[in-house]
Amino acid sequence: MNINRYLLDFDLSHIEKEYHDAIIIGSGIAGVYTALQASPDVEIAILTKESIDISSSVLAQGGIAVSLDKEDSPSLHFKDTIYAGAGLCDEKSVWALVNEAQENIEQLCYYGVNFDRKSNKELSLTREGAHSKNRIIHTKDSTGKEVCDTLIRQVRTRTNVKIKERTFVIDLLTDSTKCFGVLAVSEDSGIIKAYIAKSIVCATGGYGQLYSNTTNPVVTTGDGLAVAYRAGAELTDMEFVQFHPTVLYHPENKNFLISEAVRGEGALLVNEEGKRFMPEYHELAELAPRDIVSRAIFEEMQKTDSKHVYLDITHRSKEYLENRFPNIYSTCLRYGIDISKDRIPVAPAEHYCMGGIKTDDLGRTNIKGLFACGEAACNGIHGANRLASNSLLEGLVFGERIAKQISKECNIKESEHLQSLKNYENNEQFVIKSPSNKAKQTEGDKEGGIIINKEKANTLRATLQRLMTSKVGIVRTKKRLLDAQDKIKEIYREVIKQGNDAQEVMELINMLQLARLVVESALERTESRGAHYRSDYPKTDDIMWKKNILKVLK
Ligand code: SIN
Repeated sequence: MNINRYLLDFDLSHIEKEYHDAIIIGSGIAGVYTALQASPDVEIAILTKESIDISSSVLAQGGIAVSLDKEDSPSLHFKDTIYAGAGLCDEKSVWALVNEAQENIEQLCYYGVNFDRKSNKELSLTREGAHSKNRIIHTKDSTGKEVCDTLIRQVRTRTNVKIKERTFVIDLLTDSTKCFGVLAVSEDSGIIKAYIAKSIVCATGGYGQLYSNTTNPVVTTGDGLAVAYRAGAELTDMEFVQFHPTVLYHPENKNFLISEAVRGEGALLVNEEGKRFMPEYHELAELAPRDIVSRAIFEEMQKTDSKHVYLDITHRSKEYLENRFPNIYSTCLRYGIDISKDRIPVAPAEHYCMGGIKTDDLGRTNIKGLFACGEAACNGIHGANRLASNSLLEGLVFGERIAKQISKECNIKESEHLQSLKNYENNEQFVIKSPSNKAKQTEGDKEGGIIINKEKANTLRATLQRLMTSKVGIVRTKKRLLDAQDKIKEIYREVIKQGNDAQEVMELINMLQLARLVVESALERTESRGAHYRSDYPKTDDIMWKKNILKVLK
């Protein structure tokens, strides 16, 4: 695949510029919390490609893991995280996660997040898969929305934070030593600007949209990972894609999550023939790690030649379910399913990407000035399979750690910073013209129809999603992965040859570049581990493969 360093041609000296101390790309929990935790002296711009309230974090239902019970401890939370991660977690990062969980939850409560509480006012704790204790705090079944709404309310009051909605980041700006800004286009004005800053934080979420059925919103096209990759950042663990076991399977909706907390409150999984099957697969039955439950469901679906299994919570009363899971209750009812009486048809769907921009335990990437946080990052806390409800927590703990760094960077003497910025301007290096970048659309091109348009991009995007779902899903083989690799290259050639600077096309290019890395890594890993299952290599091979696969643009 021929990958250009920049998607578009540009001349930095002719582009309008905006100067900030820090740029945060993305407005999920990781991005907004980082902005809030930074010192008020740091001038920040949050760039987000939709409105600020569109993110995967907002859709998170279950909750946030934190060891608060007197029977629980950070060490037990550590042990469960490491077990679920199937040998690939970074212990230093996991210790940071579990030890700093409580102080960050206190901070959320201080900001006004309304978690569910018991009658004695203590936070109420539930259980999710592979947790040995009840440690999930929640706001009914809309925890992500409550947290994000609160953080967004708070950030709107900060005078040091500018929010730029409908602003799509095309590429990161780097010189030979560091990242010094981003090139972004405003959907409203169509103007391309360079946002220059001392620190850039990538908090753009994952690449769930590579798949047809995903619990992620349509914005999760992996842009942050793709721009970082083109800039020379290391990506890692791209083959580990988590499929949530229980996503509604209805002709009109195959993307709505049925939270693991429903199983935490006693729901059972039964197959098409009405038989409970999970105890045959794992001693924790319905509450086994996610990868195990998803594969078990996949196997049962194949055995019974069905497209789904059922989740049964009918032993709970309507009053209880309406109160504990109001969002799930009302959404299912809209599709004619009364969960207090009917079993819920469910099937696994893409939910979370363990792979991301490689960072250390302070959120730093291999490029000076560039940080990554949340699902866009891979700091090693999830290993090969993320433990439930560790993702919002990751956004908090590592957002806070990054906020400290960028606050320090902000103290670089202004004169030093401005001097180095001057060096970027009028520098030939930033007149980017790559022969195969066809950024400009001429009238002739339009008439001749040789330029790929938005509709064509959307059709190719759906083709890619179907390809990834059928060939690079829960169960993989060398043959299917090779088929996917060929087809991805074919689509990429078509898109690159024709080019266009429409956002849909740039997103598609990002998706294709990442899809290639997922497939390449999945081919390389000739074993099964965590969320990566190869039926031609069904065993875990610790001797060869207890290691991460790293991808960097050569
Ligand atoms: C869920 O509610 O099942 C999702 C929780 C998570 O992905 O951590």
